[in-house]
Amino acid sequence: MTRFKSTLLAIVFFVGFFVRADEGMWFLMFIERLNHRDMQKMGLQLTTEEIYSINNSSLKDAIVQFNGGCTAELISKDGLILTNHHCGYDAIAELSTPEHDYLSNGFWAATKNDEMKPKSLYVRFFVRMDDCTKRILGKLNDSMTEAEREKAIKEETALIEKENNEGGKYVVSVRSFFQGNEFYYFVYQDYKDVRLVGTPPDNIGKFGGDTDNWEWPRHTGDFSMFRVYGDANGNPADYSTNNVPLKPKRHLPVNIKGVKEGDFAMILGYPGRTNRWLPAGGIEQNVKYAYPAWVEASKTSMDAMKKYMDKDDAVRLNYASKYAGIANYWKNRQGMIDALSKFKTAESKAANEAKFNAWANKKENKDKFGTVVETINNYYKATNEKSRHDNYLQIMFRGSEYARIARSLGSQLEAYAKADDAKRTEMYPDLKAVIDEFFAGIYLPAENDILTDGLNLYVKKAGYKLVPALENANKKYNGDLKGYVNNLFSLSFLTSKERVLAFLELPNADQLANDPLMKLSNDMIAHLNLRSEELTKLQNDFGRAYRLLVDGMRQSGLSPVKYPDANSTLRLTYGKVSALPADSDNDAKVNYYTTLQGTIKKYKPNDEEFDLPQRLIELNDKKDFGEYADKGGYMPVNFLTNNDITGGNSGSPVLNGKGELIGLAFDGNIEAMAGDVIFDSKLQKTINVDIRYVLFIIDKYAGAKHIVDEMTIIR
Ligand code: ARG
Repeated sequence: MTRFKSTLLAIVFFVGFFVRADEGMWFLMFIERLNHRDMQKMGLQLTTEEIYSINNSSLKDAIVQFNGGCTAELISKDGLILTNHHCGYDAIAELSTPEHDYLSNGFWAATKNDEMKPKSLYVRFFVRMDDCTKRILGKLNDSMTEAEREKAIKEETALIEKENNEGGKYVVSVRSFFQGNEFYYFVYQDYKDVRLVGTPPDNIGKFGGDTDNWEWPRHTGDFSMFRVYGDANGNPADYSTNNVPLKPKRHLPVNIKGVKEGDFAMILGYPGRTNRWLPAGGIEQNVKYAYPAWVEASKTSMDAMKKYMDKDDAVRLNYASKYAGIANYWKNRQGMIDALSKFKTAESKAANEAKFNAWANKKENKDKFGTVVETINNYYKATNEKSRHDNYLQIMFRGSEYARIARSLGSQLEAYAKADDAKRTEMYPDLKAVIDEFFAGIYLPAENDILTDGLNLYVKKAGYKLVPALENANKKYNGDLKGYVNNLFSLSFLTSKERVLAFLELPNADQLANDPLMKLSNDMIAHLNLRSEELTKLQNDFGRAYRLLVDGMRQSGLSPVKYPDANSTLRLTYGKVSALPADSDNDAKVNYYTTLQGTIKKYKPNDEEFDLPQRLIELNDKKDFGEYADKGGYMPVNFLTNNDITGGNSGSPVLNGKGELIGLAFDGNIEAMAGDVIFDSKLQKTINVDIRYVLFIIDKYAGAKHIVDEMTIIR
């Protein structure tokens, strides 16, 4: 009963005043009340029970979170899953060697025995969710500091987890929504034996590279396929040759009849993060301080990596995934700076906040909300410089293995050194494997440059109180830290595999703590986490004010946003197949799809981004498209929908009104890069691979028809 009431209350909040089809990342629990009628009008033929049911198998059982950061879907009764190429990229690169370069040449398992197991890759099934707002808010009160609040939430969360994980069978995650105003818990089941089934070569799967990334028109076959394995009873199990393909509760039928403009399209997946409730000051901080530093530091580490990747295939394969990950957000953040500036998003948000401030200072609201806007603005003003500084520092943790070593290998060595003999014996095999992997994955000259260039940029541009050790080094080495880093690299034992292995035989916590690279890494982390009393207070006040802003915006009806920000929980977005308007920056003619002919128009032989396999060109010349051609006689490649997605949705299924698979979401368009902060219903599109192109590549290009034969095809 109480649960029912709080659900009702949540629904009232969720409904808002009007609901727009394309915008919104909706909760499966609420689509019956909020969206279903609208969806039916647009072409949905399923009941909500067929999409999300706790008791019966439903569409949601065919959707998994892929390795923590992407989405994938089950497409056969034998556990076959489809996701993006860029989601499988890390695993594909890991399985590749210069001799067997699957990243460059593609891979298609002829039989299940040929499928390859990468070291760590898991998928997460969604079992159920429920509202726990009342329960958590019941433990909180207004006189708590943010830290006390967090502690109370953590304690209650631990209880909820324990009550629902069925003795470790499930992973339970409690998430905050609407900036800590509501809470829901999610029950998941993880499978860890996931194997590579097939991938196109990267000149199909990543065709267009970083030049085309985030752009339309697009011509990328961004897909790869894996299979989930479990034990004989269908339960999750560690990798074993005895494991068998999982028989999923549900798999998606694949519809190859083709799409046309205006067709209903919905996407289910795991959007990672949006900031649609972000205050104006936060947008301004990102545009002027945080993102420019992010962009510049990313490019610096990319350039350092690339120099060595171009010279050696083994280095290229080792750094490919890291490089692609950094490059992806390097371009995204610049796109955000441009779009947010062009559309004056901070200004329009500030105008809305001024309205809110007037509401907040009405007599009946003043006590609770009166100082909210002021507190938020003070916080941003006081932290702008720090945010720039922090970004220069943080990007180094992504690019440089040694900048973050205190968090990775170093922290494991530390735990080992501090353990007793029995514990060490237990830890040894895993740690040995971590060390092997660490040294197999790095190339010291590249690591030296990545760190040097990152540090040089940091001391020059951070414009804030520097890490003390680096401040000193900067003086001593006159602004060029090359000699400094050379010195650290030669003095540290962490740059030599032999010496790290020797450390395992004679572990010494002091030696580790005094190692110069370990020290630098620890200093950088400590500096980042340093909180003066003043900063602690600012953050405390801000946390509370932001939560009140969202609360007040919802009460006053002043926010145009009616749904909670993305937070890596399963959401549904619906809309239709839809073209980008001709008056956007884009010079594509008004269309919603691209073709193989268009792909070949971009072809540049031997180019790193725009090369193509000869076989693909021949198939196009002969129009040998099998049953996958469009009625118009061309081979479709990508198409656009107006769905509301973000990073994390990569690999999500695009479904027609019957819940059949018509495409695979993989990107957004640069004109709408402000989308994580503000949804633009004219410009914001999702870029999808047409499912017919996926099947054409598997069947006609790769000759792996047996994989298509596993699927349930609707012709
Ligand atoms: N922009 C895509 C996303 O974030 C990733 C595309 C990967 N391709 C690339 N060229 N880096 O989902």
